[in-house]
Amino acid sequence: MKIAIGGDHAGFGYKRKLIPILEKWGHTVTDFGTNSEDSVDYPDFAHPVASAVEKGDCEFGILICGTGNGVAITANKHEKIRAGLCWNAEVATLIRQHNDANVLSMPARFISLEEAEKITQTFLNTAFEGGRHARRVGKMSC
Ligand code: RB5
Repeated sequence: MKIAIGGDHAGFGYKRKLIPILEKWGHTVTDFGTNSEDSVDYPDFAHPVASAVEKGDCEFGILICGTGNGVAITANKHEKIRAGLCWNAEVATLIRQHNDANVLSMPARFISLEEAEKITQTFLNTAFEGGRHARRVGKMSC
């Protein structure tokens, strides 16, 4: 799959480590930065990832910041984006099955790299259940 990834300085370390893992799993990754631990503003990286998914250039987006909230809130300003904040694999399963999330948001300062890898794998391998959840997702837009 084509995956867009990005995050701020707090997410940089995990992003750098997740990219080769994603590639090893056979995905094509577009990295929208940031590319160091120098302090930056998370919307500058969340918007490009959200746009890539919204335009259909990438199937899924992965965003990482300190809490996962700044990037998720920013991405969710995009009409076609459903970004879900995940702190364990069970939540990753549910944001796919129930919310049809197309962007995964993770809090680098509150989960281990191993957990981030497990969350990412679960998110990418879980399908939307549709049915009653499709009705609910259909009511999300303003
Ligand atoms: C950066 O210090 C931090 O505020 C950011 O990574 C994120 O947690 C914001 O939501």
